[in-house]
Parts: sequence; structure tokens; C-alpha cells
Amino acid sequence: MKLIVIINNKGGVGKTTSAVNLSASLARMGKKTLLVDLDPSASTSLHLGFDKQGNRHQTICDYLINPNRRLADYIYETDSEGLDCLPSEPALSEFYDEMQQEEDTEFFLKRSDFPRKYDLIFFDSPPNMGNLALNALAIADYALIPVQTQYLALSGLEVTLNVIEKAQRHLNKRLKILGLFGTQYDRRTRVAKEVYALIQDRFGQQVFETIIGVNSKLTEAFNAQKPILKYAPSARGAKEYQALAAEILKRLKIT
Ligand SMILES: Nc1ncnc2c1ncn2[C@@H]1O[C@H](COP(=O)(O)OP(=O)(O)O)[C@@H](O)[C@H]1O
Ligand SMILES: [Mg+2]
Repeated sequence: MKLIVIINNKGGVGKTTSAVNLSASLARMGKKTLLVDLDPSASTSLHLGFDKQGNRHQTICDYLINPNRRLADYIYETDSEGLDCLPSEPALSEFYDEMQQEEDTEFFLKRSDFPRKYDLIFFDSPPNMGNLALNALAIADYALIPVQTQYLALSGLEVTLNVIEKAQRHLNKRLKILGLFGTQYDRRTRVAKEVYALIQDRFGQQVFETIIGVNSKLTEAFNAQKPILKYAPSARGAKEYQALAAEILKRLKIT
């Protein structure tokens, strides 16, 4: 069982898109996968069809406020075989802040609470990397960093790396960086190539070979509340996330 946090201080870089589509790709490749939504914006949950307004499911927020809780009771199957989800909802942010003030609930996730049947557990994290993200970094094996191929992305990256380093030093000695990968890469622009070259110079082998290009089908898939593998399996975005998933398995030495 490997726990992987998808993390980047910046919003809009492709964390959620990557969390959903990588998880769905790995599930398709036969890996039993859980995707935990730690972002109160609940985009990952929506992407997988968990819409709190329908109110047919509980969320990680219910888990947090229920004293007799068992994490497994808040995990749901998705329409993609082999992929389960622990959904989020906007109230998570408010409840988490309140509970932190009242008692010592800074870290409410324990590694041993997760069912052992999963090969891979991904966490989608909120931007700004507050304590919610630290919860995941405190128990994870790896951080996986999507990087937008635009100049401003590089400054956000330093903040992200600092937080990971602090988590490694103070919370979790096991935590490693699994790697960085480019997202929303616009092949037609010079800036994308330049930024990608800078990332490769700085991070070398840590950068995955697969780059996720700009592909509007990925946004359409989000709007349709389906992974790209279900919405448009032959789209370039689907192929790229499958290639990235294969590279991830190789790096994890899982066959
Ligand atoms: N490779 C891509 N090509 C085109 N649009 C993308 C791509 N990746 C993400 N997007 C879109 O960009 C927006 C932000 O992506 P998202 O995954 O939600 O980022 P984050 O979770 O980091 O905030 C969304 O509208 C998403 O559909
Ligand atoms: Mg997101």
C-alpha cells in the first residue's frame, strides 16, 4: 500500500485533474485505488460524481465530526471499477478550523485507519497547503507535484518544496518526492518549452518523461463528472495520463 499526496501550493495547476485521471488510469491497470479528497472545494468529489446536493453520501467532514468513526464507512465505490473515493464537501474547512481551536485534532488521519486492500491511495490537496494538506503529508510515502509550464509556476514550486521539506523534517521521515510532471503544456508556445527546460535543469531525474498537454477534453470530462477514460478514452489527455500512470508504477517498482 503506497500513499501519495498530489500537492502544489498554487490553485489551477491540475492537481484535481491529475488526481482523478491518474487514479482512474491506475485502477484500469488493475491497481486497487482509493482517492481521498482533502480539498473543501470538493472538485475531485464532483469530478467523480459525488455531488453533496444530492446528499446520498457522507464525506470526510462527517468522518471528522463523528466520534465513533470508522474511515471505511465513508469510502464509496465510483463508476470506474477498482477506484474508490472518500469525498469532501465545503463544510470541511469550517469544521476543521473549529475543531482545531477546540481540541487537538490537527492530525485526524491515521495511516492505520485506511483499509489495507488498496494498492494505492492518492490524496488531492487544497491550494495554500494549510494543515489539511499537512495531514496527508504526515502519513504519506510520497509527494507528487504537478507543475504548470508557465513562468509563475516556478515561484509557487519553491513554496511547495519548502512545505514538503518541513514535513519531512518534523512530521514524517518516510516522506519522499515521487517526482514532478508538467501539466497544461501548450506545445505551440515558446514559454512552455522554456519553463519545461528550466524544470528539467533544476530537478533532473525527478521530472517524469510524460508531459500532460493542454487538452480541452479534460475540462469537458470534469464537467461531465467522469474520468477522461470514461468520457473520451481516445483523447490525447487520456493517453497521457495512462502513460504517466505507467511511469509512476515503474518508479514505485510495482508491476
Ligand atoms: N491538461 C489540461 N488541459 C486543459 N485544461 C486543463 C488541464 N488540466 C487541468 N485543466 C483545467 O484547468 C482547471 C484547473 O485544473 P484543476 O485540476 O482543477 O487544478 P487544481 O486542482 O490544481 O486547482 C480546470 O478547469 C481543469 O479542467
Ligand atoms: Mg483542485
